[in-house]
Amino acid sequence: MGAFADKRRIIIAVVAAIATIGLLLSLRTFGPSPEAIRVRVGSGFDHSDNKDGVNNQPDGPGQNGKHPDGKERLAYVTFLSGTVDQDDDLEKDNYFIATRILIWQLLHVPETRTHRCDVVVMVTPSVSEARRARLRQDGAIVYPVEFLETDDWVKAEQHRWDDVMTKMRAWEMTQYSRILVLDGDTMLRKPLDGVFDDPGAQIRQTKQLDNYTALEGEAPLPPTYLLASLSEVADSTHEFPPGVGTGLKTIGYMNAGFFMLAPSIESFNYYVSLLKIPGSFDPKYPEQNLINKAHQWDGPMPWTELSYTWNIRCPNENDFEKGLVSMHEKWWTQPYIYENEKVKEFLKSRRWEMKGWYDAYDLTADVRNA
Ligand SMILES: *[C@@H]1O[C@H](CO)[C@@H](O)[C@H](O)[C@H]1NC(C)=O
Repeated sequence: MGAFADKRRIIIAVVAAIATIGLLLSLRTFGPSPEAIRVRVGSGFDHSDNKDGVNNQPDGPGQNGKHPDGKERLAYVTFLSGTVDQDDDLEKDNYFIATRILIWQLLHVPETRTHRCDVVVMVTPSVSEARRARLRQDGAIVYPVEFLETDDWVKAEQHRWDDVMTKMRAWEMTQYSRILVLDGDTMLRKPLDGVFDDPGAQIRQTKQLDNYTALEGEAPLPPTYLLASLSEVADSTHEFPPGVGTGLKTIGYMNAGFFMLAPSIESFNYYVSLLKIPGSFDPKYPEQNLINKAHQWDGPMPWTELSYTWNIRCPNENDFEKGLVSMHEKWWTQPYIYENEKVKEFLKSRRWEMKGWYDAYDLTADVRNA
């Protein structure tokens, strides 16, 4: 069984590599100039000169995240930190590989790539230089941040979530008008750019509620906010779209593996003020519960629901048939998607397709950089 699966993986990787080399060679011989290829591979932005740091040059930090031409600047941001790294060997570091698959799908794969957004990996100081270099080579913008320090009462249930509060630094990225934050173990089937046009994905006015009492030490509420996300399903036995009684665990409780925000220092300061008030939220799931507290549905800044078409956890074959765009699921283990073999096969095979694609990409780096 194991040997058979290995053989199949190798065959998939080899076929993907041959196909990709063939494509790149044909582009070299008959296609556009290398410069054109370099610009075309990717999101429409040229990331080739990118070192650490977001794409905020030459425009500088935007006015409300807008280009001088008035257009919005949008980004996909994923978060990477040392506590999720499982192995020094990058080829065995499952979560790092998942992140690479996501970047590859967002930047390079014709069926899923972006035409509107920057693709950014936020890295903490515990992410090795080898990992950062690989992500840059893959085409991502690597955005280093300091840890967001928290007081002792903010204790995650699991050690691997110790650093996730640092994700909140996405609100500091004011060079963007809106950001979709995706966990590294997200995978795409179709283009995700349309999520920015979802009715739930728009900036809202903070409500003036008579019954709202601020906690002692809480910073002022920002005048506007955006927090769009999805409630969570329990496992793969759900309807599409999942609803109350048909798969959703707790309606009104969002999952921080997939959410949209509008960067704002006022909002950031508000969240940080909650972090300094012991017991202001349950720190079991650190950043997720902070966001759920700040954006609870009966409060002044209720989070808005996106269409479940954009993302789901524990996907099943019916979700695929109904046109699911992305999923929050690991390629290497799927204990809660049970007998949905096609879904598991899809998740696992991306790993080797990505490997084959980048093997060819690396081999032809000289052509692209000529
Ligand atoms: C506060 O008032 C709003 C509007 O009347 C209501 O929807 C909400 O449930 C109330 N919140 C609480 C915590 O009672």
